[in-house]
Amino acid sequence: MKYIIFLLIVFINSNLFAADDLFIMGERAFESKANCAWCHGVFGDGKGHPRSPGIAANLRETVLDEELLTEVLNCGIPGKAMPFFNRKAYKDPAICWDTVFDDYEKEDMPKKGDKTLSDQKVKAVVHYILVNFKDRGKVTKTECEEKFGAGTKLCKKYD
Ligand code: HEC
Repeated sequence: MKYIIFLLIVFINSNLFAADDLFIMGERAFESKANCAWCHGVFGDGKGHPRSPGIAANLRETVLDEELLTEVLNCGIPGKAMPFFNRKAYKDPAICWDTVFDDYEKEDMPKKGDKTLSDQKVKAVVHYILVNFKDRGKVTKTECEEKFGAGTKLCKKYD
């Protein structure tokens, strides 16, 4: 019995770590590797504009679920400034709605992101959006200080 409990604890812990790893991987990709934050803001509120192209969506208000978020990350949004991040997007028709580059007018074709993301990284960023942004409402001072440290001037504008 003790042995079973021990195994159970190991199992539960390893799952917690796995989820945490995914969160951290997603956070890193969002803020630096894929530069999502340049357009969407570190808090996902779409406040990258006006320096970035297009008016990026407020991810805190997104209605997209895991499946649709994955699709948007892989394929971008045709006709909008949202780039695509799957290396094989629009080459392998299986990735984006059975379409390839040649199916689009030049101005509608999404740009390729600064860096492409592996399936695992896309999964991590989707997890990060769902856990850290979606339905979180307005950015709070607490949330800002958790990211940048207590007393940071940058956080004065929240609350
Ligand atoms: C060059 C700027 C830019 C970059 C970089 C960028 N986005 Fe976007 N993104 C946009 C714009 C603009 C839209 C809104 C398109 C529209 O008008 O529908 C958008 C829309 C989205 C949406 C759809 C939200 C919804 O509810 O409709 C998601 C999700 C998203 N972006 C996630 C990301 C993630 C994650 C990354 C990084 C991997 C990223 N974006 C990088 C500009 C950008």
